Amino acid sequence: MRSAKVLRVSVTDRCDLRCVYCMPEAGVPLVPMAEMLTYEEIAAVARAAMAAGVRRFRLTGGEPLARRGLAALVRLLAGLGPDDLALTTNGMRLAEAAAGLKAAGLGRVTVSLDTLRPDRFEKIARRKGIERIFAGIAAARAAGLAPVKINTVVIRGLNDDEVPDFVRFARAERVEVRFIELMPTSGLGPECKELGGWRPALVVKGAEVRARVEDAFGPLAPVPDAGGVASVFRLDDGTRLGFIAPLSEPFCRGCGRLRLGPDGRLRVCLFDRAGTDLRRALREGTGGPAALEGLIRSALASKATWERGALEALTSEMFRIGG
Ligand code: 5AD
Ligand code: SF4
Repeated sequence: MRSAKVLRVSVTDRCDLRCVYCMPEAGVPLVPMAEMLTYEEIAAVARAAMAAGVRRFRLTGGEPLARRGLAALVRLLAGLGPDDLALTTNGMRLAEAAAGLKAAGLGRVTVSLDTLRPDRFEKIARRKGIERIFAGIAAARAAGLAPVKINTVVIRGLNDDEVPDFVRFARAERVEVRFIELMPTSGLGPECKELGGWRPALVVKGAEVRARVEDAFGPLAPVPDAGGVASVFRLDDGTRLGFIAPLSEPFCRGCGRLRLGPDGRLRVCLFDRAGTDLRRALREGTGGPAALEGLIRSALASKATWERGALEALTSEMFRIGG
């Protein structure tokens, strides 16, 4: 099995969409540019993470392609020789970026897409542009950023009727669709006109989605050790589907993720409020390679005893922490 240790780097908290569960319509207070890590600083953290045993990187946001010149960061990270270098994107700018990212050394992409219907996309993402995402998926495949995966958050009453359409999409587009349970994130509160606050009634459990898929398409065979937090299954015709169930099937135990925020804060969990301020270490001159490696090693060690608590009682600023 692949190493579970992965550094997820949120390169920006900016985003060109406003997905209902993630960001309030009016936007959010953003980290000032001067407080964001530079690409060189991110690469220094990544190098120290490699020294501490991390072999995989993922770039996230906000929307990572909303930050200028992302391919330059990809080139720096690819130069470190990781086992895996991936990008999570909303796909809006992927059509233009895919070939350049591939040339810079990116391995693969995951595209977030919660609906296949243009009218519904405007409701969920509060912006237009779904056709750009379809173009982005095609461009990623053409560029050889494989495998292309799709992240679909399933929300009862909003998009859960599209599960069969997503299965057909996975088959037709030769992509792996991963159905994700809705977590309590900062967009979900009384001010969210579309959904209101997070509540269990909005969640469609992974097992329910799986049962619906089997009813319509036949048995799902487990793909063992597919890696990561998704349980992966295969339909008869080889179509791969993933299920990510942080609420009903928590995977905290095996989690080896560290998250670097755009402001340089290193967190051991989506729900880790404090984290470790690596930017200060970097900018005050106390963050040499050995010191950074030590901070990363202690973060990894602290995961062994980390307790996130009941998910229902938490919220997380996904746009800052990066999924
Ligand atoms: N629940 C589940 N997934 C979420 N994401 C963002 N907010 C939530 C939430 N509340 C997903 C995005 C993206 C990934 C980075 O995290 O849809 O695919
Ligand atoms: Fe942007 Fe992703 Fe949040 Fe949607 S979920 S608003 S695409 S950061």
